[in-house]
Amino acid sequence: MARPFYVTTPIYYVNDSPHIGHAYTSLAADMMARFARLQGRDVKFLTGTDEHGQKVEKSAENAGKTPQDFVDEVSQRFRVMSERLQLTHDDFIRTTEPRHIKAAQALWTTLIERDEIYKGTYAGWYAIRDEAFYQEAELIDGKAPTGAPVEWVEEESYFFRLSKWEKPLLAYFEAHPDFMGPTSRRNEVTSFVTGGLRDLSVSRSTFKWGVPVPGDAGHVMYVWLDALTNYLTALDYPAKMPTSDGYWGNSLHLVGKDILRFHCVYWPAFLMAAGLPVPKRVYAHGWLTNAGAKISKSVGNAIDPMALIDTFGLDQFRYFFLREVPFGKDGEYSETAFIQRINSDLANDLGNLVQRVLAFIQKHAGAEIPPVQEFTADDAEILGAWKGVLAQMTDAFETQALHRLCEHLWTLVGDANRYIDLQQPWSLRKTDTARMGTVLYTLTEVIRHIGILAQPIVPLGAAKILETLGVPLDARQFTHLETHPLQSGVPLPVPTPIFPRFQKQETSELSSKDTIDTHPGGKASS
Ligand code: ME8
Ligand code: MG
Repeated sequence: MARPFYVTTPIYYVNDSPHIGHAYTSLAADMMARFARLQGRDVKFLTGTDEHGQKVEKSAENAGKTPQDFVDEVSQRFRVMSERLQLTHDDFIRTTEPRHIKAAQALWTTLIERDEIYKGTYAGWYAIRDEAFYQEAELIDGKAPTGAPVEWVEEESYFFRLSKWEKPLLAYFEAHPDFMGPTSRRNEVTSFVTGGLRDLSVSRSTFKWGVPVPGDAGHVMYVWLDALTNYLTALDYPAKMPTSDGYWGNSLHLVGKDILRFHCVYWPAFLMAAGLPVPKRVYAHGWLTNAGAKISKSVGNAIDPMALIDTFGLDQFRYFFLREVPFGKDGEYSETAFIQRINSDLANDLGNLVQRVLAFIQKHAGAEIPPVQEFTADDAEILGAWKGVLAQMTDAFETQALHRLCEHLWTLVGDANRYIDLQQPWSLRKTDTARMGTVLYTLTEVIRHIGILAQPIVPLGAAKILETLGVPLDARQFTHLETHPLQSGVPLPVPTPIFPRFQKQETSELSSKDTIDTHPGGKASS
């Protein structure tokens, strides 16, 4: 039976419009979901919006709207972003949905029944921007360590017995070194727990916008207890209990490093306390920065992903962020680096490879998949290269080294370009047309390999490559690399450029005058 894979993005706060930070996590998760599907795995990819809490309530108030109207409107913008990114998510969850409220309340009730929650009074610091409680000792110059402003809160509150889970958590981390990635982040979480855990306030009684606490109308659930439960809601909890196999046992929560503590400390503690299994793995990527500062809705230095996609194309957008930024590290967006990267890797390396081979076949080799005479050692080597590349890509996938996943495929692209230069089909045309056929067949077949392997990275361009080669939709899985080689004699259509070169006009800012040279005035893809 196909091994399941459950990949989730954070559910994004609907306090403001989506920006490239959100697009980044979502695209990374999408790449992994697509990769696992190509492996033949049974994939569930979840994304959605986090709609409760004080931050959202305040934003609604500032917008002069009721919280419900406001969250409906902003959640829709995240849904539109998901569509524009052509995410292949299987579910889009909203925490204001009845299915989720039911799940959050079920988890609460279980925690109450197991005596993991008790009532008391909270007196301490709270940062609305982070939706987080901070201890006095954590504050830096009167602010949260994240730089968020804090306010003093004193109210009746339910508490989760987090302190009790300090040792079990440390034991769990010890026994499951793969629970958190990248490795560099493990110390951060471990030292936070070692530093001592205090019981956690898990309800608020001074505002209303949240999941009502079962049996106590004066309280709403703390937004993080509510939000984290979304990962279970989407698996039909509480009707179905998560188990240590299936989706839950093969789960990956992809998050930004800003919310590591919630996912690696609070979440496993809630689950252990409820007698439920812990997710398989949490991976925290770094931040996209703008002039060195984390891009953020709350800070207001956001970059609109849609504008970049309109100018450069979706594959180009995906490729830049997934290839350029070492996954797990911070990465600075710069237009210069963007244009440089897409022109060199997509237009020059991959786009030209496909174009020069297929255009040559159109003109000089009968416009069909060429005939094969006999493969040489060089041919055989490059025809078999996909095996090593797939193994390396799989390794990178398993460790979420997504930039490496891309890089490994581009070694094959580079090899294919070198193979052309070495074999010189243009010379063979005059001296040995049979050999030319074999060389061109080898190239089309390697381009098929590249097309299949490129699907998780640049799905639109990859689909175009495979379509041009006549590879049917049901022969594009990784297993088909081996089993479905191209057949000589099949006609090939006139190729059109897959990744045209982006040419910037002589203005300092991007404008509608910027063009792609082969498609003047048009868009780079799609
Ligand atoms: O934290 N660079 O929602 P949020 C990279 N609702 N990624 C970024 C980013 C940046 N500059 N800015 C945001 C929340 N992100 C909670 C999550 S989950 C149960 C609840 C991405 O809207 C990154 O994935 O603040 C980060 O963790 C997430 O958006 C935070 O989104
Ligand atoms: Mg945030």
